[in-house]
Amino acid sequence: MDPISRIDPSINHLFFRGLNATELASTSDFESVLYLLVHGCLPTVDQRDELENRMVELRGLYSRDIPTLNALVQVLDAIRDEQGLSLFDTLLAFVSLCPIIIANQFTKVQGRKAEEPNDNLGLAANFLWMVRGIEPTRTDLDDFQTSLILPMDDPDNPSLTVLHQTLREGEVSDALLAALKEHVGPLHHGAGTQAMAMFEEIQKPDNVREYLDKRVKSGGKIFGLGHRIYRGIDPRAVVLREMLERRTLKTRNEWLLHVSDAVAREGKLLLSEYKGIQAFPNIDLYNAAVNFTFGFPPELNTSLFAISRSAGWIAHIWEHVNKKTFQKGS
Ligand code: COA
Repeated sequence: MDPISRIDPSINHLFFRGLNATELASTSDFESVLYLLVHGCLPTVDQRDELENRMVELRGLYSRDIPTLNALVQVLDAIRDEQGLSLFDTLLAFVSLCPIIIANQFTKVQGRKAEEPNDNLGLAANFLWMVRGIEPTRTDLDDFQTSLILPMDDPDNPSLTVLHQTLREGEVSDALLAALKEHVGPLHHGAGTQAMAMFEEIQKPDNVREYLDKRVKSGGKIFGLGHRIYRGIDPRAVVLREMLERRTLKTRNEWLLHVSDAVAREGKLLLSEYKGIQAFPNIDLYNAAVNFTFGFPPELNTSLFAISRSAGWIAHIWEHVNKKTFQKGS
């Protein structure tokens, strides 16, 4: 079977189970790509619907006593025992509950209450419904699904490394907790939050050069630039930049496109000058900005990344468990 994800740096493409991830993100939906990552092939219509229906049922396990994702992982084993869930359903419950918890957490911070989950909506649409109280338009939903699918997995990333390390020694819930703790780091999934905070401080393209110059000279990072594997522009950034152009025009946020483009341009020059590297936009440069056009504040970026990445994490766990069972059996 093809790997869950793979980057070919010679062409700067990302593949999920051998399929071009950027094409999938533009044409597919959250549940179908989750199925692909876990099972290795795209689902039939019936398989996809069955998965979505099961995930809707598992949303019913939500309780207000689970305020955060860390808290969810800490009670996951208890939920599994109480409900008599299989390991697979426990993993699916994790993915299904992540957006519900984040929607409740986010709206609470804003001093309001999230809508109750809508059983007629899939994972992405339901999240938008819960936080905004209106069903998303087709374009909003398609864009949001794309932005959730693109970060689902990445073959070389710190949260995946700790997930695998912990899986070798401990329980599934320990591995998920370790991944969650790692994912919030500012150079990892926290980078989107930092990038958007940077854009808000910069405000207009004319300020970019001076702002970034100060930042790099003082040893700071330009969030949204650079990647450990891609040696050119991150293909996910290409898709998101195109989406950002369209969405900023529609939402009258053109400043954001101009500032993020200027960060890409000036940041590249500065990092070449000071660090001697060729730094290209990564997913976080434009993802953070796209999320802003949905009305989401910078600090929500890291949580949205967790919703996406939950799919990749459970695919890796499922693969690990199946390999172990196979090895024991042979
Ligand atoms: N801003 C400032 N400095 C950067 C940089 C950036 N965006 N990207 C790389 N550098 C620096 C590194 O810190 C290193 O400096 P040093 O030699 O003084 O230690 C040097 O340039 C060489 O870095 P390189 O080997 O090309 O990258 P890396 O593999 O060490 O780091 C990242 C990769 C992603 C961690 C790095 O590019 C980064 O921190 N980017 C900003 C955070 C971000 O957007 N993260 C999301 C990644 S998807």
